[in-house]
Amino acid sequence: MNTTAIYEIAPDLFRLSIYVRDFDMQFNHFLVRDEEPLLFHAGFKGMFPALREAVAKIIDPAKLRHVAWSHFESDEIGALNDWLQRAPQAQPVCTLVGKLVSVDDFSIRPAHGMTPKDVLTTGKYRYRFYRSPHIPHGWDAGVLFEETRKTLFCSDLFHHFGNVEAVTTSDLIGPTRKAMQQLEQGPLAGYMPYTRQTEGVLRSLADLKPETLAVMHGSSYQGKCDGLPSGLAGVIKETFDH
Ligand SMILES: [Fe+2]
Ligand SMILES: [Fe+2]
Repeated sequence: MNTTAIYEIAPDLFRLSIYVRDFDMQFNHFLVRDEEPLLFHAGFKGMFPALREAVAKIIDPAKLRHVAWSHFESDEIGALNDWLQRAPQAQPVCTLVGKLVSVDDFSIRPAHGMTPKDVLTTGKYRYRFYRSPHIPHGWDAGVLFEETRKTLFCSDLFHHFGNVEAVTTSDLIGPTRKAMQQLEQGPLAGYMPYTRQTEGVLRSLADLKPETLAVMHGSSYQGKCDGLPSGLAGVIKETFDH
């Protein structure tokens, strides 16, 4: 059984990290403790027992109310139904496209399919979902933004390898470039497209002025994020525009 490293990266924001040695990669799940607790990334089905145990150290898993993610892939959504069975009031939360094209067929309960006009309030915290089609990948992709504390739950954006520290205040672009170059040499090559939309979408994320980036694979980031999304657009272009 994998062990889960729990770290409160900001008040009420817990990073639950499972490191998979074979991939040299962390799979991070984020739990927000609030009146209506929210989990970002349901995680792989196979990680559910470990993750449920980790969540139980912070809240009663049966009290979970929202399970959110970016795009339909097993590390994001695999254990969704396990969470919904365990937490009878929990609802899936994703982009409207995600709801319409996959989730309502897959999930044992219908999803809250959000557009940027919708606001989700969980008590102290307030969220919006921004569409980011094909960024990092998947038609249904989106990022969740918590507006009071300015946390961007950015899924695979800024992914990097290693069993790294929970939070960093230094550059994420260097490790991300390295990870992209490495993945492009293997069977997962082509996992992120570069299109005419890429830069604009990432610029609009910078305009949200996030102060914390909750990164799925690798360290989360705290501090000024202004330059990071455009830096990311640069390395996506460099790696995938060919
Ligand atoms: Fe992904
Ligand atoms: Fe991922």
